[in-house]
Amino acid sequence: MKMRKFKLSVALLLFTGLSGLQAQEKIPQVEELLEKMTLEEKIGQLNLLTPGGGIATGSVVSEDVEAKIKAGNVGGVFGVSSPERVRQAQELAVKNSRLGIPLLIGSDIIHGYKTTYPIPLGLSSSWDLELIKEGAEMAAKEATADGINWNFSPMVDIARDPRWGRIAEGAGEDPYLGSQIAKAMVEGYQGEDMSLPHTMMATVKHMALYGAPEAGRDYNTVDMSRLKMFNEYLPPYKAAVDAGVGSVMTSFNDIDGIPATGNKWLLTDLLRERWGFDGFVVSDYTSVNEMIAHGLGDLQAVSALAINAGLDMDMVGEGFLTTLKKSVEEGLVSEEQITKAARRILEAKHKIGLLDDPYLYSDESRPEKDILTEENRQLARKAATRSFVLLKKHNNTLPLFKNAKIALVGPLANNKNNMLGTWAPTGNPQLSVPILEGLKNVAPNANITYAKGANISNDTSFAKKVNVFGQRIQIAEESPEALLKEALDLAKSSDVVVAVVGEATEMSGEAASRTDITIPDSQKKLINELVKTGKPVVLVLMSGRPLDISEEMALPVSILQIWHPGVEAGNAVGDVLFGNYNPSGKLTNSWPRSVGQIPIHYRMKTTGRPGPESGDFQKFKTNYLDSPNSPLLPFGYGLSYTTFEYSDVKANAEKLGTDGSIELSATVTNTGDFDGEEVVQLYIRDVVRSVTPPGKELKGFQKIALKKGESKTVTFTITPEDLKFYNYNIEFVNEPGEYEFFIGGSSDNKMAGSFELTQ
Ligand code: BGC
Repeated sequence: MKMRKFKLSVALLLFTGLSGLQAQEKIPQVEELLEKMTLEEKIGQLNLLTPGGGIATGSVVSEDVEAKIKAGNVGGVFGVSSPERVRQAQELAVKNSRLGIPLLIGSDIIHGYKTTYPIPLGLSSSWDLELIKEGAEMAAKEATADGINWNFSPMVDIARDPRWGRIAEGAGEDPYLGSQIAKAMVEGYQGEDMSLPHTMMATVKHMALYGAPEAGRDYNTVDMSRLKMFNEYLPPYKAAVDAGVGSVMTSFNDIDGIPATGNKWLLTDLLRERWGFDGFVVSDYTSVNEMIAHGLGDLQAVSALAINAGLDMDMVGEGFLTTLKKSVEEGLVSEEQITKAARRILEAKHKIGLLDDPYLYSDESRPEKDILTEENRQLARKAATRSFVLLKKHNNTLPLFKNAKIALVGPLANNKNNMLGTWAPTGNPQLSVPILEGLKNVAPNANITYAKGANISNDTSFAKKVNVFGQRIQIAEESPEALLKEALDLAKSSDVVVAVVGEATEMSGEAASRTDITIPDSQKKLINELVKTGKPVVLVLMSGRPLDISEEMALPVSILQIWHPGVEAGNAVGDVLFGNYNPSGKLTNSWPRSVGQIPIHYRMKTTGRPGPESGDFQKFKTNYLDSPNSPLLPFGYGLSYTTFEYSDVKANAEKLGTDGSIELSATVTNTGDFDGEEVVQLYIRDVVRSVTPPGKELKGFQKIALKKGESKTVTFTITPEDLKFYNYNIEFVNEPGEYEFFIGGSSDNKMAGSFELTQ
């Protein structure tokens, strides 16, 4: 982080009370302010409010925000945007509060600000770190143009349970890929220098383990061994910290019996002392107060617990504001603890340039220039095409001919309300390009007719639950039979049927867990009847989670997974269906055959009684009576209009020495009829370990472009550092011995070579 005003030479090199690795330089401007501050003013900085207008996810919306800002009782707000409104908010603080300290202006910009791009789970399927970073840069530029200086993203929670709706907001199941993506997003939002007007402070969330709630039910209890935390769930948070993330948000769940928001082991011992984090920690929405319901005491007790654990800022609940002074008086909390937290908030304000210029993000001329520009929409369109995953090819139906007679059917085919996806409160669904319009844009000579064919769901009580933020599921006045007949009539008179089906936007996301992750019955019926017409059928599948599509995979159809693609949805779908871009996405979660297999992921251990490789049932082995162990679609899987073959998978040596490196390579050939891109993946298995190893681990990937007929050799350089894991004592080590590996286009390949790590 570069500093704007204070050169290193003049900075006071004092050290904070951290007992950890990092001795931190103090900022004179911050220290001067702290000197002047009363206890109440320090506590005021720890208070984050929302005047409403955004999405209130907790039970409270803040009241009297204006008066509280003037009184110096607020450190930041969220749900406020536009340079004018932000300037007004800053003026309240700067001109009216005693010390005139400006406010952090936060927001949830999860996948684009106004130029919404694919949901994070979708974008992760691009495996394109540069693109992901560019998306974050664009989001920061748009959001800062609208006054926002602090983002509640990236969400990096590892998730292996597709019942959990918030799987949509993360990067899937794998700690290695998740860590790379976490880093790319932090770098994209924060840039080289957070104090520049087009960059913003990022928040890694939700620390920690939020993606592993029991039974896939949002906000539910998490219970996990330390070994699993360190090896599988914590790496992406750490990667964000290592990338210099400015703030960390705690999660709602408990960890080893203590909610994250009040967990000293997590917030101080691990985050600050072991990882050396020097930013500030904010709670999730009222998660301090929620510790009362968790069973840890009254508001004063849980607020004291949180600040003593290392929480710096209280989101919306006002537990800090209303109880900390009393706790200091009663000796439950030290003033020093409060000073430390206030210091971290002020340092954050310094880092983003606010202490030098409170109106840095209030430039009225910017929204017009920077938001929803043609260039930004092009990036959103590109990102969407890269996020699509071709799940099934049938009879070369795809790509479609640009002059074909196409029956476009399905409840999501001409629908603006469901293109953006979950957690896109800053985007405007009405600006999105529906699929029908996009197909016409890309292939003006095609003859495209449209019929809805089915409702997303016919269940009115289900629709009501999904429609809390607007009408995502619209149940037509016509009967389901009439809808179906119209679609079938169109299908019969067309060359090909494209059916856009799946989940409405709010069928995934926060507080949107499902126990049944199949396509709703109303749409299944449509799909089955379309197939019976004998016409070639392409399913364009939209969802915020892995679905159970066992039945659809067995049908004679092609399937393109498009997640929720964002504001350029239709154009991107057109680009891919008509072959302007050959799909290259790969799944970042294993897709189960049924909910009975959940949680499921590719890194599973072998167990002491491995299931037979054939997948056949064997008594007294780890398997099911009624299902294979393997997922329906493995992690890393995704097809292309062309085909790729892997050959000559090898290591350049037999041994890897402690200070050395080894090159693992494969030749990849485009053997099909189209140019295309392939995500080449390296998996390694540690054969013998002091703690049971995973069956395989992703250790590298490269996305390459190959013209038809072209071959390329892809090489991964592996060092002993790459082979490290957390052992029983939670030490990060590698162990000598044999390592097997393969390089391939998905996680379900067989080991193809080995090498030895020597002592
Ligand atoms: C979510 C967070 C979000 C916060 C503020 C909470 O309900 O869990 O991810 O940042 O609300 O909107």
